[in-house]
Amino acid sequence: MTWTQAHIPWDDFKPDQVNPTIVPIVKTAALIEANSASYVAYLQNVFSAERNIAKAIDVWGQQEYQHGLTLGRWAALADPSFSFFHNLDFFRKGYQIPAYEAGSTRGSPVGELLARCVVEAGTTSFYTALYEQTSEPCLKQICLLIAQDEQSHYRLFRALTAKYYYAEYDAMPIWDKIKTVVGRATETDDDEIAYAYYSAHDRHLHSGEVPYDREKCSKLYFSRIYRLYQKKHIELLVRLMVQTIGKTPNSPVTTVCSTLTWGMWSLKKYASWSLNH
Ligand SMILES: [Fe+2]
Ligand SMILES: [Fe+2]
Repeated sequence: MTWTQAHIPWDDFKPDQVNPTIVPIVKTAALIEANSASYVAYLQNVFSAERNIAKAIDVWGQQEYQHGLTLGRWAALADPSFSFFHNLDFFRKGYQIPAYEAGSTRGSPVGELLARCVVEAGTTSFYTALYEQTSEPCLKQICLLIAQDEQSHYRLFRALTAKYYYAEYDAMPIWDKIKTVVGRATETDDDEIAYAYYSAHDRHLHSGEVPYDREKCSKLYFSRIYRLYQKKHIELLVRLMVQTIGKTPNSPVTTVCSTLTWGMWSLKKYASWSLNH
């Protein structure tokens, strides 16, 4: 573990610098990160033949769990009505990752590693954006430390690919790589985020009057995410994804992909403007 909660300046917490629009996305992230044990079990099964990968996944899972605990602690300071473990329990009871007895849902171990790179690229850009959009000192420090971890996770999964699955990666047609990367990045049938967003809100849990609506929760969550990102965060995300498929990150391909992605992102941002306003 490269850092602990002792590295966060909790005594400097500034309630007046909490941006209320980002509190729900911090709570949502806290629940997803703290649920890492499910992914550790899933990945241990996929990589059961490689002991060194299994060990690396254990360490990775502990770091993700620490991200969840730390974000949860901050969220409870920002909103004292937030009860992290209560909400986490609710989330775990209602959401389970898809069954994994058959191995990787990505079709192969190398496909799984590519998908992991996409997730870590996404979290790297997410915490970088969050770091730059908050002035609250505790959250700023938390996001800085987590963003560094996420980038090292991205490098970890790339390194594992290169060390243990290079032949499979090299033989994989570029279109299959693109399909895997874009497929993971645009997955829309996954209700993990939507259900975590729902679970993060006490009023849903206690009133029992607001049933879970995946589409609505997803729209509400992403309307906040669209506003969080700037063009440079999309460029960072696209650069890491281009690298994942084995292409040079600083190339015209990256520029074109970033411009297109930012254009679509901006359209979605304006289309969702009425939500949360
Ligand atoms: Fe994380
Ligand atoms: Fe991570």
